[in-house]
Amino acid sequence: MADGVEDFDLIIDRRAVPGEKWSRYEGRDVIPMWVADMDFAAPEVVLDAIRRRLDHGVLGYTDAWPSLEQAVVDAMLRDYGWPIEPGWVVWLPGMVSALNVACRAIGDDGDGVFTATPIYPPFLRAPANNRRRLQHAALRAGEDGRWRWDWAATEAAMDASTRLFMLCNPHNPVGRVFDRQELERVAEICERRDLVICSDEIHCGLVLDEDRRHLPIAALDRSVAARTITLMAPSKTWNIPSLYCAFAIIPDRDLRRRFRHAMRGIVPHPNLLGLVATEAAYRDGEPWRRRLVRYLRDNRERVGLRLAAAAAIQTTLPEATYLAWLDCRRFASERGIDDLTGHFDSHGVGISDGRGFGAPGFVRVNFGCSRQLLEQGLGRMLKALR
Ligand SMILES: Cc1ncc(COP(=O)(O)O)c(C=O)c1O
Repeated sequence: MADGVEDFDLIIDRRAVPGEKWSRYEGRDVIPMWVADMDFAAPEVVLDAIRRRLDHGVLGYTDAWPSLEQAVVDAMLRDYGWPIEPGWVVWLPGMVSALNVACRAIGDDGDGVFTATPIYPPFLRAPANNRRRLQHAALRAGEDGRWRWDWAATEAAMDASTRLFMLCNPHNPVGRVFDRQELERVAEICERRDLVICSDEIHCGLVLDEDRRHLPIAALDRSVAARTITLMAPSKTWNIPSLYCAFAIIPDRDLRRRFRHAMRGIVPHPNLLGLVATEAAYRDGEPWRRRLVRYLRDNRERVGLRLAAAAAIQTTLPEATYLAWLDCRRFASERGIDDLTGHFDSHGVGISDGRGFGAPGFVRVNFGCSRQLLEQGLGRMLKALR
């Protein structure tokens, strides 16, 4: 492992600077394990690129440039065997605005937008924000704790008004890396019903299982690519979410035009430093990413081992992401707890409530932190679950 800030065991005092994750519990002894950012410093190669750009001094309006576009094109081929063209890429200041733009771009007022729950909360809000109707079906957890599609419920949730399928892969919060067969089934449904696919793949660099690979749904074949808006960003993998830089890959010219049209006058350019960081991350961030994945894999194992002692809950360890998804329904009902977040808060650990994800009784735990903090946090969770 490299020296200095790249040591994932190093505890950096995040209370020393403003920040969403830690400021929520200011002045209280609560370990924040909620919002999806990690407590690690960004890679040196990314920080260096930002420093170099800052040293130039002039920070004028800047569009994406050829070497940045090439870094993304090269990364798609290197990481997923997916050949894309620079002209397919639409730059964005964030994924959530892109989810909303997709809803706005596809269909008309009142048309249906499907997504599978539980799901990252902005998926649930984007349709109504844009005068579309949310249609949803639940993923199902098997006996083995693995979450799978319920194909019958998925199709039953749709109707003739459905225009858009919002996919999250790898999935937040259940941590699945959908396999080829599952993605082919999604694609088949969307082709048969003539739906556009908006695939949020923000967590694609965080596959933890050694025998699993991320497959962009658009990489299945050309006809699937032609109906797909793939959303990606360096923000989760290299821990730079506040740099606000993301991109959509839209191979079909007409779909790209509709997407750009829906952005007009509303969605600004991404931040210059975000663009600089994106180029550095995709071009030079791979060694750091590999070390990170090893560290997170070990953290995941610790979460599994420690929480196995809490018989009242069922823990889903993710195939990708640094987020564990806990079914606390039995625990909450046996103990008469209706505010799980408040309960964990009072035991000194800050987690995300499943209600926002469309799943009351569940909680999400962020294990993207140093081992020392993780052990403390898990210890407190176990006390809360006693
Ligand atoms: C699935 C998913 N999409 C999007 C985002 C947020 O993206 P952005 O900050 O670029 O809007 C997150 C953050 O946790 C996420 O998990």
